[in-house]
Amino acid sequence: MKRILKWIFRVVLVLLVLAFLFVFVAYWRSTNDCGQSAVPTNPMKAIVYCDYGLANVKLADVEKPTPTDEQLLVKVRATSVNPYDWHFVEGTPKIMRLGVGLRKPKETRLGVDYAGVVEAVGKNVTRFKAGDEVFGGRGGAFAEYVCVREDRLVALKPTNITFEEAGSVDIAGVTALQAVRDKGKVQAGQKVLINGASGGVGTFAVQIAKSLGADVTGVCSTRNVDLVRSLGADRVIDYTKEDFTKGADRYDVIIDNVANHSLSEYRRVLTPNGKYVMIGGGTGAKDWQGLFGPMTRAFKIMVTKRFVSQEMGMMLTDPKQKDLTDLADLMQSGKVKPVIDRTYKLSELQAAIAYLEQGHARGKVVITVD
Ligand SMILES: NC(=O)c1ccc[n+]([C@@H]2O[C@H](COP(=O)([O-])OP(=O)(O)OC[C@H]3O[C@@H](n4cnc5c(N)ncnc54)[C@H](OP(=O)(O)O)[C@@H]3O)[C@@H](O)[C@H]2O)c1
Repeated sequence: MKRILKWIFRVVLVLLVLAFLFVFVAYWRSTNDCGQSAVPTNPMKAIVYCDYGLANVKLADVEKPTPTDEQLLVKVRATSVNPYDWHFVEGTPKIMRLGVGLRKPKETRLGVDYAGVVEAVGKNVTRFKAGDEVFGGRGGAFAEYVCVREDRLVALKPTNITFEEAGSVDIAGVTALQAVRDKGKVQAGQKVLINGASGGVGTFAVQIAKSLGADVTGVCSTRNVDLVRSLGADRVIDYTKEDFTKGADRYDVIIDNVANHSLSEYRRVLTPNGKYVMIGGGTGAKDWQGLFGPMTRAFKIMVTKRFVSQEMGMMLTDPKQKDLTDLADLMQSGKVKPVIDRTYKLSELQAAIAYLEQGHARGKVVITVD
């Protein structure tokens, strides 16, 4: 027995040393192309960050991209910021640095959502042409131009919305659509509660749930009650005055952007076969310090859901072109309209992210690109 314990101890020790060496080497090898790239021959303005931290986000000249045969070159007119962006800027939760760069970000460009005008198309592109107004999602979208494959996240912009509105849709809109329609499987007449109804995702989720015929309750703070009601919510709960988890109402689906109650509190107000869909957690960047941030909630859900009748899960958005076109249809028919809180210029991106990091945006924070 003593020998077995000795060997287990040795193996664990060796594994620990190897893990430490792996992290150490990965830490010192993680670098990026900052300071190495040549002066661009055909420059465009784009946001880059060479090190983690908001102070390192800056506007720079980078090479303007050239579309491949399958890509469109889009001149960006508007983009928007998402919590996704500040996760990359801050490198939090710290566990994500194992993938995106331990010491410095490996990828130095930021941004995803975009709307703009097609400037050129590759020779194999059949569904879009120069001059088309489009919107979608593409890494590095905080820039004057993006290249995107025609079968990826690009769709024609609805004619009844502005570039600013279209440029705010991709991450928040697709997340809300997948949470409400695909994960929550919301049906007409069902009672749906949206916690964090006034933010980027919440404002889309309220409208999408209404478009599916649900009876919607939105949860937000006092100053946003009228906004959430104007989006179609049947009831609005002001979380500064009332705790919905202590109320008498029961919900078929809870869409959760905040994760500020315990799982048992949510379960208490779910119907016996109700669904809990966790999208996000915490209020802003301050809650994501540390190794995991509110991600520990996802582990609790994985365990809890095995022992309860209700469906519980955390979702990760799965970007699909079809969802973008479904959203375009919802917007074209007037059932969904993006809500814009503030608009900043590309050169003011630091300020836009700083505002979003506080966790109290009212709809979307948009960036215009001239
Ligand atoms: N899983 C995924 O794939 C995925 C995709 C997109 C986003 N997300 C996550 O989803 C969350 C929401 O994203 P977002 O873009 O909507 O963020 P956001 O635009 O920053 O909105 C945050 C909203 O939370 C509300 N809020 C703050 N404290 C609250 C509380 N105690 N009760 C109810 N509402 C509260 C704020 O409203 P008040 O000002 O009224 O407090 C604000 O409107 C974030 O955590 C984000 O990281 C996850």
